[in-house]
Amino acid sequence: MANLAILSTEHYFLIAGIALIAIVLLQMSFWVGGSIGSHFAQKKQMNLNLLILEQKLAAAKLERNIVEGELGWSGYRTFRVVKLVREIKDIVSIYLTPQDQRPLPFFKPGQYLTFSLDLPGEKKPLIRCYSISNAPNDEFFRCTIKNLCVEANGQKTHTAKASQYLTTQLEEGQILRARAPAGKFHIDLNEEQPVVLLAGGIGITPIFSMLASIAKFQPHRRVILFYGGRSTRDYGLKNDLQNLVRKHRNIYLLNCFSDPLESDQQGVHYDVKGHVTIDLIKSMLPSNNFQYYLCGPGQFMSALVTGLAEWGVPKEQIHFEAFGPSSVKSVRADISSPEKSRQACRIRFTRTGETVEWNESNGSLLDAAEQYGVAVNSGCRAGNCGSCEVGLLKGRVRYSKDPSVFPESGKTLSCVACPDGDVEVDA
Ligand code: FES
Repeated sequence: MANLAILSTEHYFLIAGIALIAIVLLQMSFWVGGSIGSHFAQKKQMNLNLLILEQKLAAAKLERNIVEGELGWSGYRTFRVVKLVREIKDIVSIYLTPQDQRPLPFFKPGQYLTFSLDLPGEKKPLIRCYSISNAPNDEFFRCTIKNLCVEANGQKTHTAKASQYLTTQLEEGQILRARAPAGKFHIDLNEEQPVVLLAGGIGITPIFSMLASIAKFQPHRRVILFYGGRSTRDYGLKNDLQNLVRKHRNIYLLNCFSDPLESDQQGVHYDVKGHVTIDLIKSMLPSNNFQYYLCGPGQFMSALVTGLAEWGVPKEQIHFEAFGPSSVKSVRADISSPEKSRQACRIRFTRTGETVEWNESNGSLLDAAEQYGVAVNSGCRAGNCGSCEVGLLKGRVRYSKDPSVFPESGKTLSCVACPDGDVEVDA
């Protein structure tokens, strides 16, 4: 019995040991199984989160497109001038809300509005385009306009009735008519590639809209703005720019003044004395791998677009809008592949009685008319507003780009039309 009792105790310990090991093994298997399960569960959750994020993004894009499509309008819509801000001596910002009080479409930052302006003393409305200078929002557009009248010794050497009127006579409460935002020079807010913005003088207006939109909708996207101007005296939207830079760490601003005032201090009011040059850009950037958006006067554009192309920036990454017809054309020619050249021919302007030789270097009919001092109205210079329409009395034209408005029969849009053989134009 004693032996049996000893055996029973040994068995008891043996059984207890085996049971303990079994429990430990069982727990380990639960733990291993659990962590593998939780790993897969976590991965599943992450994939789910990613899917939800992608769907949210797609929904936001869709919503933006729907808003853009549904809230756009055709023809002219009336707007009330709700606020006027004199930025500096010659530059005024106009804040516009729609009279119908419906929300505004989500425009593409960089686009412009085309206005039909009834000016005192003018028989016909003047059609003019001005860049929108704020980020998209439901309530208002802001356009920042420079008075382009040039005076020397008290005499006007260049008249610009529309900009003069808007910057000196327009009052709050007045009504203006404008077409929906248009224009192909705009930033893509669905892209993520870092951006370089290059603005010369009043070219800051569409560039500011791009910058403010990146700050609002893409606060993680890196953006560097090179601003070129004479001094603080000519610097429109300076305060708005400084506010953006102060609030957003993804934005870097470099101010270049070519002719600073005595009171302008380097390191305070500006960073570099001189113009924005391609060498400066190269010295500031780690590589050329950015999307570039440029807006400014002809020389500024011509030098920088050529410089960027020579630096090896693919032309798809260089987006620009220049002031003045010849600058756009020559800059475009600098980076475009040569088109099949058209034959030289003649343009007869029947109202002035002048016949002029035309070749590709003269550009569009509008460019040629301006080169020879023939008056032709213009607005957008891009085939969007219809203000440059002229009668085509003889011959044929080709469009350098498809216009978005269609001229009446027997007429042509001179800003995008080039003669295709000898032509006669009612101008
Ligand atoms: S200037 Fe606007 S269509 Fe020609």
